[in-house]
Amino acid sequence: MMRAALCIGILSALVCVGRSDRHDTDEDHTHQATALNSLSLVSSANKEFTYHLYRKLAAHTDSQGKNIFFSPKSVSVALAALSVGARGETHQQLFSGLGFNSSELTQANVDEAFHALLDRANKMSQKDTNEGTALFVDHDFTPHPEFLDVLNKSYFTEGFNVNFTNTVESSNTINRYVAEKTNGKIDNLVDNLNADTIMFLISYIYFKGNWDTSFNPELTKKDEFMVDENTKVPVEMMNMKEDVDIYHDQNINTTVLHLPFNSSSSMLLLLPDDMATLEKAICPGFVTKWLKWMKSRRYNIHVPKFSIKTSYMLNDVLIEMGMTDMFNEHADLSGIAVGKKLVVSEVVHKATLDVDEVGATATAATGIKIMPMSFHHTPILMFNRPFMVVITDRVTEDTLFVGKIINPNI
Ligand SMILES: *[C@@H]1O[C@H](CO)[C@@H](O)[C@H](O)[C@H]1NC(C)=O
Ligand SMILES: *[C@@H]1O[C@H](CO)[C@@H](O)[C@H](O)[C@H]1NC(C)=O
Ligand SMILES: *[C@@H]1O[C@H](CO)[C@@H](O)[C@H](O)[C@H]1NC(C)=O
Ligand SMILES: *[C@@H]1O[C@H](CO)[C@@H](O)[C@H](O)[C@H]1NC(C)=O
Ligand SMILES: *[C@@H]1O[C@H](CO)[C@@H](O)[C@H](O)[C@H]1NC(C)=O
Repeated sequence: MMRAALCIGILSALVCVGRSDRHDTDEDHTHQATALNSLSLVSSANKEFTYHLYRKLAAHTDSQGKNIFFSPKSVSVALAALSVGARGETHQQLFSGLGFNSSELTQANVDEAFHALLDRANKMSQKDTNEGTALFVDHDFTPHPEFLDVLNKSYFTEGFNVNFTNTVESSNTINRYVAEKTNGKIDNLVDNLNADTIMFLISYIYFKGNWDTSFNPELTKKDEFMVDENTKVPVEMMNMKEDVDIYHDQNINTTVLHLPFNSSSSMLLLLPDDMATLEKAICPGFVTKWLKWMKSRRYNIHVPKFSIKTSYMLNDVLIEMGMTDMFNEHADLSGIAVGKKLVVSEVVHKATLDVDEVGATATAATGIKIMPMSFHHTPILMFNRPFMVVITDRVTEDTLFVGKIINPNI
């Protein structure tokens, strides 16, 4: 187990969307300008969302000495696709939770921006990166054609019909799909689908990068990793003496190592004097600064080889980020289907990271489980502890009896 002393970000360099060459009319120009502006607003919202979500997850796992690793992009794609079917306050909360400002962006702008982001991700990379979404729908349930259409066109969603009554078979179908998309890294996204699931929306991301300069396996040696002041664990420590990009940020006493992949992506490894200071401060502006100002110099670097897996139930952190209504009786998902009240019962997220001499592989999947409100929200009220009773006349409100039951047996 490798605790917090290593904080990792995998970045994709920002590239502008391809613009078509036919600049015919003013309308085209205006539309392109709006699209580019939306894309930049959505991209910067996604970056802010990253560290909001990170801090929430860190707060939830702080005392447990656990690794944190997740894909903010997978989470925001899944929630943005869900927001296509959300209305009213539920939609507002998803929008502002994701960092979108509804006076600057409409859902259609957001859909268009994600279309560009997903399209670019899958066009630029060949076999080594893969991002997408899928929707598993119960055979007894018919979503609004418009909802399916937007998901298909903007989020490249693959649609499947399943029989959720068959809980084992439908779980297996979803797990097999995610396993295939993540090259077997995530093979159990769901393990407890209930029969009343009506829809399951997923997003996945698979990333594989080869270091620009690989580590020499012969230099990898057994070493120790200091989990905390009192705990040491054995690791395989890789080693390289090369010109590498380094930045020492004195504001937060953190040294940043930039390890580029032989693609447009890079890994940043952040080694702070004090993890809490770094976790509190980190924001997109720091990353921009580090990438801009880092200097190449010869260093003797030691980086552990490791493989980790994480798993989160995101309901609580999303609620803390203001996305409350989709989980309760106020949920308004009427854009998904007419005449059926729906609610989100779970948002699960699983991720993996493998780092070795050759490169890194990172995968993640987010699953959003949607159920009919009636099934989900039958509130339970159990008088299984001391309670009071009052017997009253409804008309006169005369209290006929009052009491307290501490033990119903005597
Ligand atoms: C949303 O955008 C409007 C217009 O640009 C701006 O005035 C407002 O402050 C923004 N709201 C938030 C919460 O950023
Ligand atoms: C979107 O719908 C079209 C037309 O039905 C279909 O051909 C295409 O495969 C769908 N896209 C995805 C990603 O499933
Ligand atoms: C769905 O699965 C249930 C349980 O196995 C079965 O009774 C039902 O006939 C199936 N429905 C369809 C349409 O296949
Ligand atoms: C950084 O380290 C120096 C020297 O140990 C210390 O004086 C300073 O307070 C630290 N800054 C922060 C933000 O922790
Ligand atoms: C990156 O490195 C791998 C392994 O050496 C190689 O197979 C691949 O073609 C390289 N990709 C690029 C874009 O150079």
